Amino acid sequence: MSSQLWTRKPVEHFEAEMKESKLSRVLSKFGLTSLGVGAIIGAGIFVMTGVGAKEYAGPALALSFVVAGIGCTFAALCYAEFASFLPVEGSAYAYSYATIGELFAWIIGWDLILEYGMAASAVAVGWSGYLNKFLHLFNVRLPIWLMNDPFTAKEAIADATQKGTLNTLASQYSDISMPTIMGFDFAWNVPAFLIIWILTAILVRGIKQAANTNNLMVVIKVVVVFFIIILGAQYINVDNWSPFIPERGAYTDALGNSHHAYGMLGIVAGAAYIFFAYIGFDTVSTHAGEAKNPQKDVPFGIIASLIVCTILYILVALVLTGMVNYKDIDITAPIAAAFGAVGLKYAVFIISVAAIAGLTSVTIVMLLGQSRIFYAISKDGLLPKKTFGEVHPKFHTPWKSNLLIGGIVSFIAAFTPIDSISKMVNIGTLLAFVIVCIAVWVMRKKEPTRHRPFKTPAIWFVAPMGVLFNLGMMLTLEWQNWARLVGWLAIGLIIYFAYGKKHSVMAKIMAKEKA
Ligand code: ALA
Repeated sequence: MSSQLWTRKPVEHFEAEMKESKLSRVLSKFGLTSLGVGAIIGAGIFVMTGVGAKEYAGPALALSFVVAGIGCTFAALCYAEFASFLPVEGSAYAYSYATIGELFAWIIGWDLILEYGMAASAVAVGWSGYLNKFLHLFNVRLPIWLMNDPFTAKEAIADATQKGTLNTLASQYSDISMPTIMGFDFAWNVPAFLIIWILTAILVRGIKQAANTNNLMVVIKVVVVFFIIILGAQYINVDNWSPFIPERGAYTDALGNSHHAYGMLGIVAGAAYIFFAYIGFDTVSTHAGEAKNPQKDVPFGIIASLIVCTILYILVALVLTGMVNYKDIDITAPIAAAFGAVGLKYAVFIISVAAIAGLTSVTIVMLLGQSRIFYAISKDGLLPKKTFGEVHPKFHTPWKSNLLIGGIVSFIAAFTPIDSISKMVNIGTLLAFVIVCIAVWVMRKKEPTRHRPFKTPAIWFVAPMGVLFNLGMMLTLEWQNWARLVGWLAIGLIIYFAYGKKHSVMAKIMAKEKA
């Protein structure tokens, strides 16, 4: 195989680029942790806990959070080691470039689009669900086909017809029929589509304001999560926790789709599903270039944000499944609905507002993360610099990249169910975690003497366990997700051989050195 595919970008090159970077080093330990928490707490806890409990794990959802949290902790320790000696923008893409080689780096960079870009779509869909709940409080109702993608709208109608609950569904929307366009039942999630475009416009104009509001959003989110735990705990009916692990039995939805549910396997499958909730701690590593003391503070930020969120998540899962029987959980806005069910209308208001604000900040972090990854890849020549690396003369932002991302992400958000998007995000991110766990070990073997300000403890245990846990979760995802992942990676390979390989900056440097 061509040696270019295994070309590594030396750590010294990254260091030289970092010195040239114009980013100012302003982020402290606290700032980095806050960024992490800001990226982590979002649709996963506010939305996906619903399906996680109802369709996968039952009250044992809390254990799913433990399993996913353990997998993430192993990966986080590996990310922390990389981030400490390679504090650069490209995250896992850069780590693979330094350790395994160009082809792998490209594959992982391509894979990260699933994490950042697709996650932005999923969170926007969650945002739309909470907006709907919020509007209800003021008796504003919109047609089902303007608030959902076609698959979700169809399933909701089929489900309500099957259960004889069409009246309940009708109370949530002004119209529960779907228009037919060219023989297809039509629906599109307008709020999800619009929020992506609004945030894209903000990103094109520059992120200063966005960065300032992030801290406020994080405070609101964390305070409201505490509010949910403390207030919700008073409404727990312990009977709802029994049985804690419901018997194993495949779940089948109204459209005939089924997946692993309940029992031990349901806990692991639930972990793979709610894994989405943990995504984001790795974004701390993409801010290494802005950290005051990246070697120490970035590992701290990664691990601290993960620990804080794991504890909060386990408690929220216990509260939710204690307040409502898992079979009755609302799947579009589960937490707000649980408080609505016990008559706490003001709590529904507070939670919906916080969720809307919180999900906005996660969406912006994900869109921003995506443009940073593209920027890093285009700097290496593997994507066209003109599109992905060009900075707007006035706004100083990679505007073309932002617009392209906004276009694709908004389209996906408008027409795809949150479940399908989030599973794609999960499988892509789990793969990235598996590769980072392997890469950190490879690097230890290849460059044992390199100075590592943070060393993953017991790497011989942490790295293989990281692979095991994250791969284990991947294996519970249905074959369709694997097929999509393989298809996605195949497209990536075509792009690499058609474009990246020919334009690689490293390949040109190597060729010059040889000559
Ligand atoms: N962890 C982030 C969320 O749950 C992506 O929204």
